[in-house]
Amino acid sequence: MKLGIVGTGNISSRHLDEFQKIKDVNVEAVCDTNEKNLNIFLDKYKLLNIRGYLTLGEMLEKEKNFDGISNTTPDKFHKETTLQILEKGYNIFCEKPLAENYEDAKEMVAAASKSKKINMVNFTYREASAYQKLVDTIKSGAIGIPRHISACYYQSWLASNKWGDWRKEDKWLWRLSKKHGSNGALGDTGVHIFDFAVNAVGDIKEVFADLKTYKDKGKRIKNYVLDANDGFNALVRFENGAIGTITNTRYATGHANSLILEVFCTKGSVKVELDEERTKWTTLHICQAENINRMSWQTIDCPKTSNNYENFIKSIQINKNIQPDFKQGAKIQKIIDSCIKSNDNNSWIDINNI
Ligand SMILES: NC(=O)c1ccc[n+]([C@@H]2O[C@H](COP(=O)([O-])OP(=O)(O)OC[C@H]3O[C@@H](n4cnc5c(N)ncnc54)[C@H](O)[C@@H]3O)[C@@H](O)[C@H]2O)c1
Repeated sequence: MKLGIVGTGNISSRHLDEFQKIKDVNVEAVCDTNEKNLNIFLDKYKLLNIRGYLTLGEMLEKEKNFDGISNTTPDKFHKETTLQILEKGYNIFCEKPLAENYEDAKEMVAAASKSKKINMVNFTYREASAYQKLVDTIKSGAIGIPRHISACYYQSWLASNKWGDWRKEDKWLWRLSKKHGSNGALGDTGVHIFDFAVNAVGDIKEVFADLKTYKDKGKRIKNYVLDANDGFNALVRFENGAIGTITNTRYATGHANSLILEVFCTKGSVKVELDEERTKWTTLHICQAENINRMSWQTIDCPKTSNNYENFIKSIQINKNIQPDFKQGAKIQKIIDSCIKSNDNNSWIDINNI
């Protein structure tokens, strides 16, 4: 299979590494509008003889017969590049968030559906086998009806240097700036934790969100205005009657990248805690049956399952879209838009009226 990648920054290496592990799959061409980034990437993978281009247009013109293309450009460019790729009739694996807003996301869903091509969004944490078991356990009804959920996404790159210095690197600075197409922590990592919650518990009906931008970081660095949110708290009401809190911050010192989801149901509870090192990705915690009265939790080891990269390739092979697809990406985008509106209006927002 012949693959391409648009955007050769930070996350593109992971795309290449994961695709190259799959038998008979090769990334043959990449493009990036930033020549320096393109050359660093081509040099890093020089043994693979990948062909590089400076625009997507040129890559699509000169390269024929892609089986699929990964879109790893920043959020602001997802729509225009994805529409170009679909227009050419190629299957697409797009980074999250699907778009900058729900209107754009809907356009992308319509284009994908018109093209009848495989379309997936890279909600990475779906891959955790413990999370999949959590979803299956809730959906089976074995622990009753969901009543209350707590979902947290913790990063600390604004207060630690594990991933470098945010003040000095473009890959962090665009994430802090609305003009550069970012919806801050909400759009960047909030999409993951909302997808995590919705896919496990069901659709959200209403949301009340409090977004926070810490002004003492400074107003601007180079041409990046630091006006996007650095974290948020959201109260949510699900269609099925459950309620919950969904929170996200880039100031969670002690956590490089953690996602914690607890779902309390009428006949038991389940919990996962994903960590940066992926050591906890296969561990599900469950409290049920006689353990309910003992306040005791059982630990279940869940064997690894296929990742999103493997699922994208499999979707192409079987010509059937494995989740998460663009429709799911748009559903999450609608929640993001609702959170922004809720914060602006200081009121609950009915998701179905957005
Ligand atoms: N799934 C995940 O867990 C995960 C993790 C990290 C990043 N991401 C997502 O991946 C995307 C990229 O993030 P990143 O950290 O790699 O950013 P980055 O800034 O490091 O890299 C993006 C690259 O895209 C290039 N680019 C910009 N516009 C382009 C265009 N029109 N055509 C071709 N190239 C273009 C830039 O020059 C840059 O090299 C973002 O949408 C981000 O949200 C997802």
